[in-house]
Amino acid sequence: MTQDRQSAELGHKRVRDLGEDEAAAELARLAAEIAAHDERYYQKDAPSVSDAEYDALRQRNSEIEARFPHLKLAESPSDRVGAAPSEKFAKVRHAVAMLSLDNAFSDDDVRDFVARVRRFLRLGEDVALRLTAEPKIDGLSLSLRYESGDLVHAVTRGDGTTGENVTANARTIADIPQRLAGDPPAVIEVRGEVYMTKQDFAELNARQEAAGKQTYVNPRNTAAGSLRQLDPSVTAERPLKFFAYAWGEVSELPADTQMGMIEAFRDFGFVTNPLMEVFDSVEGLLAHHHRIELERAALPYDIDGVVYKVDDLALQQRLGFVSRSPRWAIAHKFPAEKAMTVLHAIDIQVGRTGAITPVARLEPVTVGGVVVENATLHNAEEIERLGVRIGDTVIVQRAGDVIPQVLGFVPEKRPAGAEPYVFPTTCPCYLQTPIMREANVSGTESVVRRCSGEFACPYQRKEHLKHFVSRRAFDIEGLGDKQIEAFYDDAMLPIRTPADIFTLARRDAENPLQKLKNRDGYGEVSAQKLFDAIEERRTIALERLIYALGIRHVGEATAKTLARAYGAWQAFEQAALKVADGDEEAREEMDALEDIGDAVIDSVAAYFAEPHNRDLVEALAGELTIQEAERPAADTAFSGKTIVFTGSLERMSRDEAKEMAERLGAKAAGSVSKKTNLVVAGPGAGSKLKKATELGIEVIDEDEWFRRTGQ
Ligand code: IVH
Repeated sequence: MTQDRQSAELGHKRVRDLGEDEAAAELARLAAEIAAHDERYYQKDAPSVSDAEYDALRQRNSEIEARFPHLKLAESPSDRVGAAPSEKFAKVRHAVAMLSLDNAFSDDDVRDFVARVRRFLRLGEDVALRLTAEPKIDGLSLSLRYESGDLVHAVTRGDGTTGENVTANARTIADIPQRLAGDPPAVIEVRGEVYMTKQDFAELNARQEAAGKQTYVNPRNTAAGSLRQLDPSVTAERPLKFFAYAWGEVSELPADTQMGMIEAFRDFGFVTNPLMEVFDSVEGLLAHHHRIELERAALPYDIDGVVYKVDDLALQQRLGFVSRSPRWAIAHKFPAEKAMTVLHAIDIQVGRTGAITPVARLEPVTVGGVVVENATLHNAEEIERLGVRIGDTVIVQRAGDVIPQVLGFVPEKRPAGAEPYVFPTTCPCYLQTPIMREANVSGTESVVRRCSGEFACPYQRKEHLKHFVSRRAFDIEGLGDKQIEAFYDDAMLPIRTPADIFTLARRDAENPLQKLKNRDGYGEVSAQKLFDAIEERRTIALERLIYALGIRHVGEATAKTLARAYGAWQAFEQAALKVADGDEEAREEMDALEDIGDAVIDSVAAYFAEPHNRDLVEALAGELTIQEAERPAADTAFSGKTIVFTGSLERMSRDEAKEMAERLGAKAAGSVSKKTNLVVAGPGAGSKLKKATELGIEVIDEDEWFRRTGQ
């Protein structure tokens, strides 16, 4: 089984069903995944998953840690907030760490939270516990340090310990006082959220669009991007706002309650949220949560929940913190936003491998500030389960930036005569090739349906071409999905096969009628730019080429394994052709490769057995200069060994270490098991090191690794 599949399966296992080894592997996987999401969210301001999905990962990580405390990683995501600050800005260490908040997703989670607080403080039922409730603003947090009333610096959260110095940018925000009013303490760090209103965001995007510039995804990322760029004049042009809701170092507290502090902030000249209130019962908090949820759509800014905080600061002090969040506060998140709209049609989309996905075409509706016109229906079974019919009023949900989903329909609104949807049996392309269902390993029918047209199906061919030019494949600048669609249907200068891309400039030069510069959207300069970009990719690494072919089951990692094993294109092609012809020896040779099994070999064989594909590949290879892959040294001291790198590495990055091991013919694994041959441990190594010692596996440090590898 490949590691990817293994971890995908682990990812679905319930925490209580995990064995110890599985839990360790799952913690490593979650740590890596959470770190990657953190980097996208905090450093690049471009998250790729919804907040709900992200929260679920962190939740799962915490649950596993709670069951197996001894497996908790030294670098556990539970102990970390945010991501390391960007190198662009000077770094500032926070005098008091900027922490995160624990999440509650249901009313019961909130009841548990309050019960926990009461238990911790040993408060009897008869003793009142006051808590504040206020909106959780969807922006980015900022810490403002004032000394003798003057703003001295503004620092982002960063990783919670060290943030980025964005003072020059923060000074351009009108809600942030340069000098505090009233009678502030000698030193005070006021913390809060920088955000952009929905209206300002819409207006900014309209301006961007009018100027032909790229538009932004949502107010939060725009606010973050505006603050975390180097030119204060750009920040000044962006209408950013600030709500003050917390504090860091304070020489003398101006109040003894949370609410009192917020009132003091107001006196110092800050804007605070008007929806903050104090309650003395859980039911009061929940009712306020409900009211704010109803008001949410009408609020001028994005919020994603309600934050509850123990009001009494002496109690906050006693409660303290657990790893990355205070014990005295919690964020009660809102469920994903929903809306009602009409289902006009169900279209069938055909993917690269022929997989058929039904897509709901909807009457445009705004869900959480974004206009939704399409939603996925997954497959025929999902349509049947939902029971939706064309013309129905449906409920759609959008969580974060993920594809909207159809949740169900409203029976009372079903129009008379609406017929059940009949899933097509043929591909929507002009060939009308039959749609087939595959068998699962167990012999049952899979839910995935595929168009059987393969290379003959124009939809699949277009998708293949899009994959071919994609970033991780040929990565041709100026030739993306949109251009492929246009070139495919172009009568004068078409691109229908990968080789056509590399003959484009020749065809353009040879025929006086087929000039790209005369085509819509192109001119002399842009046409030449595209030809140059194509030319640049005429020399290509073998592994990229293998990946670009889009053979089923041959992803980037498999393409790399194949490239490394065969070294040169001719060797790979010959092996593939032999396998396609049923040559047992060639098959065994391929089967011996790490992580390559029957599924990969069968699809490589099927691909090369197809005359059309052979022609396509021949024509393409004739246009290219294919670079040989770096073959692993056949006989190093590390060939065939499994190595685990753990702890922090100082002389190389994790990726670099993995590359090095692979180059030496070894495999870099994520967790320690009996199969591990060597552990390279850096400072801070934890459970993996412990396990290696228990299992009697050889452990060396980074310097020794470099000595042994002779580098
Ligand atoms: S209190 C020690 N109050 O949510 C905890 N945070 O998920 C201090 N946030 O890092 C935070 N609105 O960026 C607090 N009303 C609010 C908030 C709020 C938004 C953000 C803040 C924090 C994150 C935690």
